[in-house]
Amino acid sequence: MEKTETKLLKIDRSSFKETDIDEAAGILRQGGLVAFPTETVYGLGGNALDETAAARIYAAKGRPSDNPLIVHIADVASLKELAKNVPEEAYALADAFWPGPLTMILNKKPCVPDGTTGGLKTVAIRFPADDIALALIRRSGLCIAAPSANASGRPSPTTAQHVYDDLNGRIEYILDGGPVNIGVESTIIDLTGEKPLILRPGFITREDLEKVIGTVEYDKAVVSRVPKANIVAKAPGMKYRHYAPKGELVIVEGSRENVARYINRRVEELNAGGHKTGVIATDETAPLYKSTTVLSLGKRTEEKALTHRLFAILREFDDLGTDHMFTESFYDTVLSEAIMNRLRKAAGYKTVNADEEI
Ligand code: TXA
Ligand code: MG
Repeated sequence: MEKTETKLLKIDRSSFKETDIDEAAGILRQGGLVAFPTETVYGLGGNALDETAAARIYAAKGRPSDNPLIVHIADVASLKELAKNVPEEAYALADAFWPGPLTMILNKKPCVPDGTTGGLKTVAIRFPADDIALALIRRSGLCIAAPSANASGRPSPTTAQHVYDDLNGRIEYILDGGPVNIGVESTIIDLTGEKPLILRPGFITREDLEKVIGTVEYDKAVVSRVPKANIVAKAPGMKYRHYAPKGELVIVEGSRENVARYINRRVEELNAGGHKTGVIATDETAPLYKSTTVLSLGKRTEEKALTHRLFAILREFDDLGTDHMFTESFYDTVLSEAIMNRLRKAAGYKTVNADEEI
């Protein structure tokens, strides 16, 4: 791929003017690529209705082109321009959760090119809550196709530095709005089938959705604790190995004491073999681990913030050259599906039950 000069512009959230975004907006209008912050993760934006821009996004990320992109909009009215047969539920969900970390799958109109939807007849649409993202959509006058702005297979980027590390020289522009808020990608709900289906768990939970539209089910593949050859995830992107740290990650389940005892024993063995180890824990449990690098997701009592540093921690372990990582499990927290779905993928589903190992 040809080398491109990447410009990075810092934006001060508290004082920026929409016109500060005009250079980036102009690049998008000319078919270029701009990475920008959203409330979930950084996105890699291109003109959603321009097939060539979509092709450039796939090339920059090294992403398989059957994996469709999410189209970002800045007002609910754009729904009708991109999608047909929009059901009532979509408007009810938009009313409750937009702008915000929810993506809806709807039947696409012909104006959305196959290059953006990976050949699917449906389109993923999201109205993000980030002021910089919204300014970019408005100033460009476009709908913006944006996958997470990481190189394919790497953890999603939650800072502009992560984007720079993965995509410098491959895209024109990065808008740096500081670290994101939520830290995992939007919840995806498919409204094109008989029943609403969650294709990717996120900050907006099943319970949140059910309060607005009644029964919602999970795509079985995204909540399964073991990979099952016969169930393929409905969102094309969910079937790929993802978020992969460079070292090996193992999820350790069980009582707090047994988890700590098991991990400490493994760490001792690995350290003796010359390995570099690390543990993903919480503020409450971090002191239980000895002779290893412990990175904390935060306080278990602040459950809704536990996603914030998840991907950043995976990248931090890479930077430290850690080759063996262990993580506690988070099945008992409100964002359990969102967190554990990412951890299972990062771990390639490797899980140990410490209660059985001790
Ligand atoms: O929070 C987010 O959603 C972030 C920010 C940047 O908005 N974006 C994001 O995009 O996570 P990406 O491309 O990394 O993930 C999009 C997921 C993929 O798993 C893809 O397969 C699925 O959405 N998807 C997109 N269009 C779809 C469609 N028409 N039907 C089913 N799944 C779809
Ligand atoms: Mg992604």
